Amino acid sequence: MGIKVGICGVGAFANNFIPLFKAHPEVASVTLCDLDAAKLKAKAEQFGISRTCPSLDELCQSDVDAIAVITQNWMHGPQAAQALRAGKHVYSAVPSAITMEEIAALVRAVEETGKVYMIGETSYYYPCALYCRDRFRKGDFGSIVYAEGEYMHDFDHGLYDVYKWRGGERWKEIAGAPPMHYPTHSVSMIVSVTGAYATHVSCMGVVDHHADGLFRKGVNLWDNEFSNETALMRMSDGSVTRINEFRRIGHPGEVRMSLYGTAGSYEEQYGNNIWVTKDRASWQDITGLLESRGVPASERKDAMSEKVGGDAVFEGLSQVHQIDRLPKEYAGLPNGHRGSHQYLVHDFVTACVAKRQPPNNVWQAARYLVPGLIAHESAKRNGELMVIPDFGGGR
Ligand SMILES: NC(=O)c1ccc[n+]([C@@H]2O[C@H](COP(=O)([O-])OP(=O)(O)OC[C@H]3O[C@@H](n4cnc5c(N)ncnc54)[C@H](O)[C@@H]3O)[C@@H](O)[C@H]2O)c1
Repeated sequence: MGIKVGICGVGAFANNFIPLFKAHPEVASVTLCDLDAAKLKAKAEQFGISRTCPSLDELCQSDVDAIAVITQNWMHGPQAAQALRAGKHVYSAVPSAITMEEIAALVRAVEETGKVYMIGETSYYYPCALYCRDRFRKGDFGSIVYAEGEYMHDFDHGLYDVYKWRGGERWKEIAGAPPMHYPTHSVSMIVSVTGAYATHVSCMGVVDHHADGLFRKGVNLWDNEFSNETALMRMSDGSVTRINEFRRIGHPGEVRMSLYGTAGSYEEQYGNNIWVTKDRASWQDITGLLESRGVPASERKDAMSEKVGGDAVFEGLSQVHQIDRLPKEYAGLPNGHRGSHQYLVHDFVTACVAKRQPPNNVWQAARYLVPGLIAHESAKRNGELMVIPDFGGGR
């Protein structure tokens, strides 16, 4: 019993997800798929999987129920739409798409096929997002007035290698992509907590002068010169959000948020997480609470501790992650991106089995992506205030 899953793209990032799909109790079989035959063979051996497929086209013709698209970041939109149109449920690594036309086609594909689509947004399950979502639901923030989300990732922190392995000989054409075309880690932090979405944006870019020449006209496919972009967004709840997408920054790198309400606020700086209210004396340092260090099931004294017993550890989780909604088979398995990987796979598989759209559905995916696409257009026009199209909240 369970669903048959195909994993399209078995490169570096897929290594984190293959064992989790394989171990999930509601997955009947896993098929690995890649255009690179040598890589496909090696991964099949490494993970002990016998079913393989040489291309997405053939995977779409196969008997799998669902396809996880973990291909290069600029390919997802059309590939996901192709799989949906072939009658498959789809999980997609971020970003969902890279143009307005692609995201519109993706939303249409979900609406017309009724298939499950889930964007694999890791930030959604970050401890700070879980913590703020919970406090927001309880009303502890009051009304939101201002938010900050940012993704800082300097090229010196591995990005040259990433683009070389993803792009091959033509890697420079895509390495200098507009930073705001990859906005989903930062935007989703805010949107997934408050439920508000961005309606207007004004964005400015920082022209790059680095000697590597990646962010130059004529070098990348977008003629993009900005390595850092900062956007100010009007949100549907009346608040204001500031988003930073930085690729040249003297910083260790981080995805982070801060959120300010009329009653309480959450603030984050590198390695420090704070809850504050108007009462100076009541501020709380919640850094330890949100630390992703792994949680022994026995520590929780909940249903899971009885199911797995002993000292089984759920890797990478923080104190605010709810372990008892994960399958017991995930005890001791690898996790990543602050505990998000296991929830991503579990929530997708259970959505497919129940035939209902998950929280990170295609309409949310659009609300995570489109503000960035329009922000870059605004940056090209020196900060012109632009309207952000919305595809609705879904069905
Ligand atoms: N925090 C996050 O959410 C996060 C972190 C890291 C990576 N990612 C995402 O993971 C994705 C994969 O990154 P990666 O570094 O593993 O890339 P990669 O280049 O190592 O792997 C991609 C693989 O997809 C295969 N592929 C492409 N088109 C195909 C097709 N039509 N049929 C079959 N196979 C096909 C390629 O041959 C390649 O092996 C990226 O989109 C990236 O954005 C997300």
